[in-house]
Amino acid sequence: MILKLAQSRKTIRKFKPEIPPLKNLLYAIETAKEAPSGMNYQPWKFIIINDQHIKNKIRNICEKAEKTFYENSKGILKDFLLKNNINWKKEFLSEAPYLILVFADRRAPFSKESTWLSIGYMLLALEEKKLSTVTYTPPNIKEISELINVPKIFSLEAILPIGYSDDLKEKLNRKNLNEIVFFNKFNKFDKEE
Ligand SMILES: Cc1cc2nc3c(=O)[nH]c(=O)nc-3n(C[C@H](O)[C@H](O)[C@H](O)COP(=O)(O)O)c2cc1C
Repeated sequence: MILKLAQSRKTIRKFKPEIPPLKNLLYAIETAKEAPSGMNYQPWKFIIINDQHIKNKIRNICEKAEKTFYENSKGILKDFLLKNNINWKKEFLSEAPYLILVFADRRAPFSKESTWLSIGYMLLALEEKKLSTVTYTPPNIKEISELINVPKIFSLEAILPIGYSDDLKEKLNRKNLNEIVFFNKFNKFDKEE
């Protein structure tokens, strides 16, 4: 069952305006908080945003920095962005009914690793509830944190816009097991390694 959820999940960047039940977001966070964490510190905090005014402000802050980021991107990053039609515009930040901002307590051991594990749990729980998201990593976390009064000990790790998908995109390919799993020693399997 978990495998089926993992296989059907895909990143969505375009959302319908319909508002999903808040209880389904809370279900996803309840799942996230069961993740393991360094010293069981549970360093994560989640802020749910549904105020349109604040969503617009977050979008403006992000797009300002994204413009510079995209102008400077090159190599495989630039190729990936072009191929996937991703640009500096982040409509999903104002169009998704909800944003979940995920923070990591900097004081915790393995704070980032633990918080990202919780994000992984959350992605599968959202999939189970037929909700879509994109794991967006904003370029200018300081300005966003100031906007919503986040103490400096918490670092903004990701913004998850949540809603129903309005995108029929295909799931991106995954590597085969034999390319990523080895027994006893690392095996070369192609010239890139
Ligand atoms: C750590 C991490 C950071 C990511 N940052 C972004 C991001 O800033 N913007 C974005 O549009 N997608 C972002 N993504 C989504 C990835 O591009 C996406 O997961 C990947 O292309 C695979 O596609 P899939 O999720 O549809 O399988 C991020 C994903 C992860 C795990």
